[in-house]
Amino acid sequence: MNREQNTSGAEISEMKVTPWEVEGVIDYSRLIKEFGMEDFSTLLPFIKDPHPLMRRGVIFGHRDYSRIVDAMNRGETFAVMSGFMPSGLPHLGHKMTMDEIIWHNSQGGMAFVGIADMEAYAVRNLSWEKTKKIGLEYVKAIIALGLNENSLIYFQSAHTAVKDLAFELGIEVNWSELKAIYGFNSETTLSKMIVTAVQAADILHPQLKEYGGPKPTVVPVGADQDPHLRLTRDLAARANIFALERIDGGARLRSRKGEEYLNRAREHLEFEFVEYEGHLDIKGDYGEIEKEIREIELELGGFAFIPPASTYHKFITGLTGGKMSSSKPESFISLLERPEEARNKVMKAFTGGRATAEEQRKLGGQPEICVVFELYTIHLIQDDEELREIESACREGRLLCGKCKARAAEMMKNFLEELHEKMHEAEARLDMYNILM
Ligand code: TRP
Ligand code: SF4
Repeated sequence: MNREQNTSGAEISEMKVTPWEVEGVIDYSRLIKEFGMEDFSTLLPFIKDPHPLMRRGVIFGHRDYSRIVDAMNRGETFAVMSGFMPSGLPHLGHKMTMDEIIWHNSQGGMAFVGIADMEAYAVRNLSWEKTKKIGLEYVKAIIALGLNENSLIYFQSAHTAVKDLAFELGIEVNWSELKAIYGFNSETTLSKMIVTAVQAADILHPQLKEYGGPKPTVVPVGADQDPHLRLTRDLAARANIFALERIDGGARLRSRKGEEYLNRAREHLEFEFVEYEGHLDIKGDYGEIEKEIREIELELGGFAFIPPASTYHKFITGLTGGKMSSSKPESFISLLERPEEARNKVMKAFTGGRATAEEQRKLGGQPEICVVFELYTIHLIQDDEELREIESACREGRLLCGKCKARAAEMMKNFLEELHEKMHEAEARLDMYNILM
């Protein structure tokens, strides 16, 4: 694309974001609008000590995250859940999700970490042996990065409750819906469809009775996973017995599973209500009513799922600029990378520097397009003040790329050396964790 086209705005390359494909230049505010996500920044003031990825706008969108903020601020039970497809070695992109899980885990959330071996097997054609071997590297990595024992790590194929729930949720999904959400067609295999139900079950199973019942759950993911969340949030509602809707002065209650449940609810209700054909209008505080209906549903053997919340982080840039690609080893750093090799990759990374040192002193660099600055922002620098100093030194032409890169490269090397040591330790401590494999 040349410059004229770019500035005229006429031919901006089409952006495409699906769980299996991400293409084009991503416009995040457009993504928020088109997907119907919410802007994350408006929640920031309510979060005590937010994660750097939150403060720095890397986490840019969410659904329903205020449920999680409330739970954290009130010290109530909540869960954090995300999954990793073990089709390739864990890399810095996965580390971002791991950091998000670990942060919520350290805020008191019970963490559920799914290794999506069924997905890798069905969609990427990997053997079970391979998915097991690669999956274990994810397990060691997330433990090494700081996951605590208030967690469950599992391989999808080993988790009966998840597979059973997937089957159950499948009852609520039909073909036209799958087609509309995922763009499936007549070539799509049944197992690839099943995998979408398994992912929905991954996300909802922390709310099963055996894990303490309904609870706010947050799913930190890349924006490409949003279709799964839209489907899962719908399924959470559809799998429940009761549907509740806000009305003036209270809530309207319907049953999705037959009239007899409404009768049972009527017997249990402690609130005042008016009876209509097919629904009850209940008077009172919506939140209180919701809580009571959930209790009644659980007594009646229903799920009473709370729709899962989610946070969305930006896509990371490949080291060489453009997309990260598993077929281009120089475009990403694996968490198992030899530290020396990682250092070399950073030294060759795409920057926002100018053609000559002289020009850069005059015009300054462009951190907003610089992959090295992205590494600092997402992985290497915790202190905001320090990051701001790099940014202004770069913009003002006081800092040149050679020196700046060398520093990032050194930090990356040290980080990996330390991580490998911790992964090695993690291997010896695996039995202290709850792992289903
Ligand atoms: N589909 C996700 C990926 O390709 C992995 C995944 C499986 C997942 N189950 C999940 C992500 C549940 C979030 C929640 O990376
Ligand atoms: Fe990037 Fe650093 Fe160069 Fe600025 S000075 S463009 S942050 S490498």
